[in-house]
Amino acid sequence: MNRGKSNNFLRIKACIFDAYGTLFDFNSAVDLCSKDIGDKSEELSNIWRQKQIQYTWLRSMMNKYADFWQVTGDALDYAMSAVSIKNEPLQKKLMQLYKELEIFPEVNEVLNNIKNENLKIAILSNGTQEMLFNAINHSNLNRLIDMVISVDEIGVYKPSPKVYQLAINKLKLNPEEICFISSNAWDAHGASSFGFKVIWINRYQLPHEKIPTEPDKIISSLLPITNILGLETHV
Ligand code: LAC
Repeated sequence: MNRGKSNNFLRIKACIFDAYGTLFDFNSAVDLCSKDIGDKSEELSNIWRQKQIQYTWLRSMMNKYADFWQVTGDALDYAMSAVSIKNEPLQKKLMQLYKELEIFPEVNEVLNNIKNENLKIAILSNGTQEMLFNAINHSNLNRLIDMVISVDEIGVYKPSPKVYQLAINKLKLNPEEICFISSNAWDAHGASSFGFKVIWINRYQLPHEKIPTEPDKIISSLLPITNILGLETHV
């Protein structure tokens, strides 16, 4: 343990990761079907993701919670209509693949470095426990993840402060002892506004959001987390 470097992440006792887009690559489902989908693949994947997130916000505001599996299916329905593809077997296959999304290439290395410093690792996600465990098992991440927290337990989606509070209740830590890591800017801002130390993984070089608060760090993959937290590398 050599975290004596001066940095404002020194008091961190746990790292909480967002799941989709941060650890698991949501584009990998469509990528694996790109032969069937052809030149509409990218558009389909983008609309699917955008609608999925919109539906979580809308349902939270309307007080009409349905779990993330249903929302993901509804969003895919919409996306397929939007790109004029009617293909039930393909739709079923994409949903099946969503359960087994691939992880980003650097995930294992970074989680290992965190684990080796005895920091707790948790996932805090919109996904249901079943969806998250399917994805975790598919990539053999079980050994590295101490806790899986799903919004399903409280029936409201990110970025409601209730979601970030749920993580506090589960981990029994203060907000400033938590490093929250998300590739979704709006999630990063939500967590930052709540009081977590936040790292935004800006994987797709997007402009900064014009909403309150700022993430503490902005990086383009998970790799620099090892340095930011002052961890030793264990390759
Ligand atoms: C999640 C979505 C927001 O895992 O990526 O919660």
